[in-house]
Amino acid sequence: MIRVLFVCLGNICRSPTAEGVFTHIAAQAGLASKLQIDSCGTGAWHVGSAPDARSIDAAKKRGVDISVLRARQLHADDFIHFDYMIAMDRSNLADIKARCPSASKARICLFLDYATRSEVDEVPDPYYGGEDGFEQVLDLVEQASHGLLAEITDRYAN
Ligand code: 4NP
Repeated sequence: MIRVLFVCLGNICRSPTAEGVFTHIAAQAGLASKLQIDSCGTGAWHVGSAPDARSIDAAKKRGVDISVLRARQLHADDFIHFDYMIAMDRSNLADIKARCPSASKARICLFLDYATRSEVDEVPDPYYGGEDGFEQVLDLVEQASHGLLAEITDRYAN
C-alpha cells in the first residue's frame, strides 16, 4: 500500500480537489487497491466542512465527485503514516516541513513538481478569486496527478 496525503491551507478547495482527481485517475488505471489517498489542511478553520461549492462544481464538470469529503487538519501521525505528503504551494510546504518530526520518512514535496509541462510551480489559492481560478486548479491538479501516478507506478513497479 502506498499512502498519499495532499495538503493545502483550508482543505476545502485545492487538496480535496487533488484527492478526488488523483483517486479518480488511480481507479481508472486499476490502482485503487494499491493506494490510500487522503487530504488535509494546515489550518483548522474549516474542519468538518464539505469542500467549497465552487470546487465541488468545477470537479463535477470533469466527472469527479468530491462532495462527500470533509475537511480535517494536518496531524502529527500523518508524518509517520504517509509515504507522500504533497503541498499545493510553498507556504503549505514550509508549514509541513516546520511540523515534521525527525522520525518521519515521508517524501514531502510540491504537487506541481510532478506537472512537468506546467508553467507555474504552485497551485494558486482560489478561495478569494473568481470561477476561473477554480478551473485553473482543476487543470493543474489533473496534469500533476498524471505525473504523480507515473512516478509511483515506476517506483513501485517491482
Ligand atoms: P484551500 O483554500 O487551502 O485550497 O482549501 C482556502 C480555503 C479557505 C481559506 C484559505 C484558503 N481561508 O482562509 O478560510
